[in-house]
Amino acid sequence: MKLAVVGTSTITEVLLKSVQTFKRFSPYGILSRSKEKAEHFQKQFDILYYFSTIEELACSDVDAVYIASPNSLHYKQAQILLSAKKHVLLEKPFTSTVLEAKQLMNTANDNRLTLMEAMKTTFLPNFIELEKYVSKFKKINSVEISFCKLSSRYNDFLEGKMSNMFSSEMGGGSLVDVGVYAVWAAISLFGTPKSWTHKAQVLSSGVDSKGELVLEYDNFSVPIFHSKMDDRGCYIRINGDENIFVEEFIDIKGFFVDDKYTSVEQEYEPMYYELSEFYNLISFNKLETSINSWKKTLLVMNILEDSRKQANIIYTTA
Ligand SMILES: NC(=O)c1ccc[n+]([C@@H]2O[C@H](COP(=O)([O-])OP(=O)(O)OC[C@H]3O[C@@H](n4cnc5c(N)ncnc54)[C@H](OP(=O)(O)O)[C@@H]3O)[C@@H](O)[C@H]2O)c1
Repeated sequence: MKLAVVGTSTITEVLLKSVQTFKRFSPYGILSRSKEKAEHFQKQFDILYYFSTIEELACSDVDAVYIASPNSLHYKQAQILLSAKKHVLLEKPFTSTVLEAKQLMNTANDNRLTLMEAMKTTFLPNFIELEKYVSKFKKINSVEISFCKLSSRYNDFLEGKMSNMFSSEMGGGSLVDVGVYAVWAAISLFGTPKSWTHKAQVLSSGVDSKGELVLEYDNFSVPIFHSKMDDRGCYIRINGDENIFVEEFIDIKGFFVDDKYTSVEQEYEPMYYELSEFYNLISFNKLETSINSWKKTLLVMNILEDSRKQANIIYTTA
């Protein structure tokens, strides 16, 4: 099966390393604004063809495309590719609005194509183990999820150097960049919240550098701390029938139950598992995965879009 990639940043490199391990996709093409950058990737990963526009890529006979472009380009690029009958693995955040997400799902449905959000965490064997463990709890007292890491791009921003991550035009900000992992973890572990509130620190560019999103459930709430400007850490704490602590949950390798470490085999790199799921879905003519179902993607999009509005985070494009 022929796979192309969009973008030439680190995350594309990481995905292509998993493509090498997985072996069942053949690296067919790369889309970049820079031929030189693309050539570097082509040499490193034996990629056959270079494309300079999304339309050229859509006209090719590639089967599936991984999109890792700036957030505000996700919708347009995915829509063009799906309309040209290509399966799409789309980086997080899926789109900037619920409406855009629904429109992509409609196009995928009309053309009988696989469309999946590349939220790697939920495919990891140890996350699935955590879900099983927590689902047996009779009571949950309190939960806390944090993804707060200082980004070098935040320091760049303070020095006047703008990156896509902090650009309103590119659909950036801390909530959609890192908070999205915590929202996915929460809805996977605890289901649909009854309501939510979000407060954020908004930069002069119009997007957030940090924030606190609280998801309300029947008998407990889930505070989510997200930040690109401080180092609170990346973890999940659950206090219920037992105490659970997960370190670096986005690439979860195991978790503590009280003081005992629990882990299941997870021999590959994190992106291998989502890639393998994407391949299997296409092979079995399935449009969506049950793990990151379209319904869950829409719920996450709804929480993100509404939370942006609550905190006055402005996108100039959506
Ligand atoms: N799953 C994960 O673990 C993970 C990790 C990091 C990021 N991501 C997601 O992956 C996506 C890319 O993130 P990133 O930090 O890698 O973004 P980025 O570096 O800002 O952009 C990604 C690529 O898009 C192209 N690009 C950049 N600016 C562009 C523009 N103005 N117009 C058109 N193309 C442009 C560049 O490729 P060329 O220069 O070659 O055209 C670049 O390599 C985001 O949606 C992000 O949320 C996911």
